[in-house]
Amino acid sequence: MSEKVILSAMRPTGKLHLGHWVGALTNWVKLQDEYKCFFMVADWHALMSEYKDPSSLKESGFDNICDWLAFGIDPERSVIFVQSEVPQHLELLMIFSALVPLGWLSRCPTFKEQIKQLKDKEINTYGFLGYPALQAADIVLYKATSVPVGEDQLPHLELCREIVRRFHLFYKKKVLIEPQPLLTKTPRFLGLDGRKMSKSYDNCIALDEGDEGIIQKVRSMITDPARKTKKDPGHPEVCNVFDYYCIFKPEIKDEVSDWCRNAKKGCVECKSILSDILKEFIGPRRDKKMDFLKRKDYIYDIIKEGRKKAKAVAEETVSQVKTVMKLI
Ligand code: TRP
Repeated sequence: MSEKVILSAMRPTGKLHLGHWVGALTNWVKLQDEYKCFFMVADWHALMSEYKDPSSLKESGFDNICDWLAFGIDPERSVIFVQSEVPQHLELLMIFSALVPLGWLSRCPTFKEQIKQLKDKEINTYGFLGYPALQAADIVLYKATSVPVGEDQLPHLELCREIVRRFHLFYKKKVLIEPQPLLTKTPRFLGLDGRKMSKSYDNCIALDEGDEGIIQKVRSMITDPARKTKKDPGHPEVCNVFDYYCIFKPEIKDEVSDWCRNAKKGCVECKSILSDILKEFIGPRRDKKMDFLKRKDYIYDIIKEGRKKAKAVAEETVSQVKTVMKLI
């Protein structure tokens, strides 16, 4: 029986926030029960957009790993590693670069979209064009059977599948695995201002946010604009605060809806209760993270172990790849 394997990654471009938890990390934690998991710090991918000043990538990667652990990634079960520490990613990327038609990359919708959006980053580069090919190498190296993705990453996964098929077409032997997308249904979750939660919008609650920060940020959240005073009945279905309740305290969502619709509690009180819920959720995890940040050697050991395990698998795949290509 073949093993079910997951490879997923985050780019270390800064601190993690609740959007990362809701959109990815909570799912990663659950996947550990069912799959052999590889969780990677995609520092080469981050470099593709941050090359002008890559000086914080290293520290962000370390910080992100501490969050992963504090929020439930288990280094005993999952392999936690840094992409640039396993040279086979670049070796397989080189091989893929030889066989991936330029059009596949230049027509990739995420490429066109990003170029438009990140104008100031000047990512119209050779490396950035190859971003999905590198992602394909990441996935293929570990023979991942599934990759948890949001809608936005689907084109990259499709490209990966096409690369694998093209590889098999040329070299005949099916040594690689065509990964399946594991489309993760994520609940609606937005930033404090109602836009997508993102560092660049400054509308985030960090995974290690302090209690005071939580209180102030939740207080700043926009509620149902039709509800001007406590006496006005509100509409939870259009309220961002209500969405947070649905995620972080779903068991009381009917009650919260009743507070709002029937004007039993005002928005100020509703937000204050939400702050308490978030403080309770983040607090113990933040303390754990702070502890990890101090135990540097312990974290470095985990990363070193992860590198060893990842490298063993990656070396084997590259060796099979080169063998069927008759390069060795
Ligand atoms: N492109 C992904 C993102 O921006 C990060 C990533 C790099 C990734 N390599 C991966 C995700 C492999 C899944 C599998 O979020």
